[in-house]
Amino acid sequence: MNGKENKVAFITGANRGIGFETARELGEKGITVILGARDKAKGEEAVAKLKAQGITATTFQFDINKLSDHQAISKYIEENYGKLDILINNAGVWLDSTSAGEKNQTSKTSLDVLRRTFDSNFFNLVVLTQTLLPLIKKSPAGRIVNLSSILGSLTLQSDPTSPIYESKAFAYDASKTALNAFTIHLAHELKDTNIKVNSAHPGWVKTDMGGPSAPIEVSEGGKTSVQLALVPDNSPSGGFYHLGKTLPW
Ligand SMILES: NC(=O)c1ccc[n+]([C@@H]2O[C@H](COP(=O)([O-])OP(=O)(O)OC[C@H]3O[C@@H](n4cnc5c(N)ncnc54)[C@H](OP(=O)(O)O)[C@@H]3O)[C@@H](O)[C@H]2O)c1
Repeated sequence: MNGKENKVAFITGANRGIGFETARELGEKGITVILGARDKAKGEEAVAKLKAQGITATTFQFDINKLSDHQAISKYIEENYGKLDILINNAGVWLDSTSAGEKNQTSKTSLDVLRRTFDSNFFNLVVLTQTLLPLIKKSPAGRIVNLSSILGSLTLQSDPTSPIYESKAFAYDASKTALNAFTIHLAHELKDTNIKVNSAHPGWVKTDMGGPSAPIEVSEGGKTSVQLALVPDNSPSGGFYHLGKTLPW
């Protein structure tokens, strides 16, 4: 059942965009990939594309905001693989009315947008990770990759000379800052284990979320996630990276 490397990865939001590319690249390396997809048909379509390339892939209907789905995926992985080597917390939403670079609307950001953004990008991601951690602990080299964003960097958000200084989508940015805090805290708790926990900034990628002006092609969008999914045992944990370079918190 397992791939050449005998490793299993679960990627949330993997039916399109960066998640799909991450699944494709991990699959190309012989890792068995489970594609989380809210829409079953879209998940099956994505899996068919990967299978056509000879990748061992399967899909699991998964909505980060349905806690029953968390229990179901945990049971599925336990029963079929007995462990989880790689968790890519990729699913995410941008619900702010502003696009990157547009006028700062912080004072008008509604509680509803804040809550829904944090539900998907932070609260339920934390719960999923906690739920799957016992299975990740059964891996000889567990890896947790949290899809953050450079927009969550407080250092760069507060620096008038930084390239993202004018990009202020409050709910989204704050949810990624909170996610970075989770990375640091969980990595610290797990520092004496074989599990590595890191935050990834994929770059500004031409996905549905990134939009057509983004400089990075979708096919390149999974690179940082894949690097962090495969870091060796002697590498750091609790960091924030883009293509191997450390980003400031
Ligand atoms: N694109 C960029 O430039 C960029 C930059 C920095 C960080 N990121 C981060 O990278 C990650 C992937 O971004 P992307 O650009 O690939 O986004 P995307 O094209 O909008 O794709 C988002 C994926 O997440 C899924 N998703 C959304 N809500 C979900 C939920 N409640 N439960 C499960 N899955 C859900 C979507 O599923 P559906 O198809 O069902 O909607 C889709 O598969 C996100 O965390 C994003 O914040 C992206």
